[in-house]
Amino acid sequence: MTEDSQSLGQFIPLHYHYNMLNDSNKMTAFKIAIERAVQPGARVLELGGGTGVLSFFASRYASKVWCVEKNPELSREAKRILALNPGSEKIEVIEADAYEYLPPEPVDVLICEMLHVGLLREKRIQIISSFKKRYIERFNTSLPLFVPEAAILAAQPVQQSFDCFGYYVCRKWGQFST
Ligand SMILES: C[S@@+](CC[C@H](N)C(=O)[O-])C[C@H]1O[C@@H](n2cnc3c(N)ncnc32)[C@H](O)[C@@H]1O
Repeated sequence: MTEDSQSLGQFIPLHYHYNMLNDSNKMTAFKIAIERAVQPGARVLELGGGTGVLSFFASRYASKVWCVEKNPELSREAKRILALNPGSEKIEVIEADAYEYLPPEPVDVLICEMLHVGLLREKRIQIISSFKKRYIERFNTSLPLFVPEAAILAAQPVQQSFDCFGYYVCRKWGQFST
């Protein structure tokens, strides 16, 4: 792995996926969006599948789902967890880099949830741009439906003391001289 691929956001440890799986706002929104986007019999590609949960939602309606995950630990876990869930035989987990992967045939829906740290760390924009270019070159057809289709970013400044019982794990506010 390169240094960049190991930085948080590029590399998302397994335990962090547990938090994502328990994020009811995220899960509900994606589940509803997938139910609306994936028509019966559709072919679906997921880029950055993680534990495979969004591919699983899609597989309830799709005829085939390709789930691409580049982290070997995660792709192994996705295969293991999906095998516990009935109906997931339609999902093929592929350990690959989304920058390079294309499905063997055109797809109707592309799911890509790489929104970590306000699109700064994960390479969603670059990956989607690369996908669009390669997909049109390979298949010469219109692009699939994207889930999500757009992202709205917001930042909320916060002030945190980092005072842990008098033990400062960060400089005190205002102590920034060298
Ligand atoms: C924010 S997580 C979302 C995981 C899952 N889709 C979910 O919603 O729970 C993004 C995933 O994309 C994977 N990823 C990041 N860059 C990738 C790339 N270039 N190719 C394939 N997977 C990638 C990460 O390893 C991570 O598992």
